[in-house]
Amino acid sequence: MVGAYKDMKFDKTPYGGFYTQNDIKEVVAYASKKFVTIIPEIEMPGHSQALLAAYPQLGCNPDKIYEVATKWGVSEDVLCPREETFTVMQDILTEVMALFPGQYIHIGGDECPKKQWKESRFCQDLIKKLKLKDEHELQSYFIGRIDKFITSKGKKMLGWDEILEGGLSPNAMVMSWRGTAGGIEAAKLNHDVVMSPNNFFYLDYYQADPKTQPLAIGGNLPLSKCYSFEPDLPELTEAEAKHIVGVQANLWTEYIGTPAYAEYMTFPRALALAEIGWSPKRPKNYVAFSDRVKKHIPVMDALKINYCNVDLK
Ligand code: ACM
Repeated sequence: MVGAYKDMKFDKTPYGGFYTQNDIKEVVAYASKKFVTIIPEIEMPGHSQALLAAYPQLGCNPDKIYEVATKWGVSEDVLCPREETFTVMQDILTEVMALFPGQYIHIGGDECPKKQWKESRFCQDLIKKLKLKDEHELQSYFIGRIDKFITSKGKKMLGWDEILEGGLSPNAMVMSWRGTAGGIEAAKLNHDVVMSPNNFFYLDYYQADPKTQPLAIGGNLPLSKCYSFEPDLPELTEAEAKHIVGVQANLWTEYIGTPAYAEYMTFPRALALAEIGWSPKRPKNYVAFSDRVKKHIPVMDALKINYCNVDLK
């Protein structure tokens, strides 16, 4: 897909790729030298269309011809919670856990439409058999089994805030992306949370008037808005707030085709994220922050970082 989503233009060029085990080892070793731990995300039960194109027996309709996606977004084609699916996902996770030495394994859990589960006799029978209320509880059953598996291997499972919807799995850590509500709910349930609200930390969003910027997915996230995020949320008691273990910015790359553009979207907004992450609780002063950011201009220039300068003038 090329250009804006609404234009539905395609260049017919296959897009894709993969990492070998050796590639991953190289990336993990490089990151480790920089004191960075890489957390892999193996998405399930949604965002699995490519897996279904290769292994249609993992879907709700094994006779369906599942195609590899040609556009970005949410797909109705999702994994079916059959024993065979769990076997395959556990095999994949076993291979992944051996490659990534860090404590956390992200299993996605976001954006899983329930249409195919509603229409599937297998899923409806399973809901009855397990005495579940609905398809959201079926998703929690799916995630709960994966949580048990990951926990049994001594690792910790992370998932997006949708994993709260049918009941949160006992050992899950939550990344709150649809604003802060999911993170607040999880913290109140005594689960650890990473705050990654899209309205503050989605670095694929525009940082200035779209007319003046390279094509991006949408949104409106200038540096000042990014900096204004307050992790000490008034909804949380001091004890609950301890469950907010950090903040995260997401740079999804549907529209980001080059490392230079990735840098452009990341800087200077990453500086705001960093300061929020390491600062003690205190009132924010954007003007003072802005002065500090300007001191980074010569540093970013020396490092040849392709930062966006609209908020640095
Ligand atoms: C997400 O942006 N779907 C986590």
